[in-house]
Amino acid sequence: MPSLDPATQVLPVNGSREALFAFAQAVVDASRPDAVVVCPNPFYQIYEGAALLAGASPQFLNTLPARRFALDFAELPDDVWSRTQLTYVCSPGNPTGRVMDLDEWRRLFELSDRHGFVIASDECYSEIYLDESRPPLGALEAAHRLGRPGFPRLVTFSSLSKRSNVPGMRSGFVAGDPAILAKFLLYRTYHGCAMGPPVQAASIAAWNDEAHVVENRRLYREKFHAVVPLLATTLPARAPQAGFYVWLATPVPDTEFALRLYRDYNVAVLPGSYLARPARGVNPGGNHVRIALVAPMGECVDAAHRVSTLAGQLNREMAASS
Ligand SMILES: Cc1ncc(COP(=O)(O)O)c(C=O)c1O
Repeated sequence: MPSLDPATQVLPVNGSREALFAFAQAVVDASRPDAVVVCPNPFYQIYEGAALLAGASPQFLNTLPARRFALDFAELPDDVWSRTQLTYVCSPGNPTGRVMDLDEWRRLFELSDRHGFVIASDECYSEIYLDESRPPLGALEAAHRLGRPGFPRLVTFSSLSKRSNVPGMRSGFVAGDPAILAKFLLYRTYHGCAMGPPVQAASIAAWNDEAHVVENRRLYREKFHAVVPLLATTLPARAPQAGFYVWLATPVPDTEFALRLYRDYNVAVLPGSYLARPARGVNPGGNHVRIALVAPMGECVDAAHRVSTLAGQLNREMAASS
């Protein structure tokens, strides 16, 4: 792993959500014509709001099952890339669980070099993965491997929320290009607060302990092992590469599936189309729901039975009407 200078290349933040939002305000120059912020689609909703409030127009890269949810940078023409000031990526992805590989990073860095945009790499699921021997590749490591000292125009966002199960504590950090972090720090002197000493102390304890993170991963792994085969009896369920979501294709529109699941089986899932925007003629979240395996094992298994029962019922209804 590359080493970082704590004085210039790392900043603590009060959770990554605020940082992801504030970052766009700090780096986007809305006085330049037709500013663009690119983000994956479906996506963590903060990116779009951050782009709009920074005075930029969001442009989307669809992540689709046919490409195993990989980004296709060719989806956007050069004219859009040339106006792009910031690109968000999320790896491991929310909701797909997809991890960007070195080749994707190489292509994204090439685009950033050509067009001068900043990359915000949201890595808040980086420590929730299924194969203990294969942690996901992070942006800083990819830059290091590709010979990019100083991480030009690259900043990563990390958090204790998922790794240590403390979303309420509001603790994370950003790391990367020192020139961009200096701008971000200046912006934060106006809108942000320093992290309070009790949270700092708790954060130091959490970052210094790996045992609870290994145990957290073990619990997620157990849940995936129990839940995915149950779902797979009636639906095309697969475990993700990383993260704690099952991104599940539905036999009927996602909103209808989620509604019936909640109304008839008391299970809440998120309709995928709510996490995405129509782009190039498709809503890439459509016909998918996001299932978060954050409840205890017993509840996840019970819920998986109910999801599977609904899917069986829908399959029978569709067979009867065809
Ligand atoms: C993709 C992604 N990024 C960032 C966050 C924000 O996490 P936090 O603000 O707790 O660090 C979340 C939370 O759900 C998320 O899903």
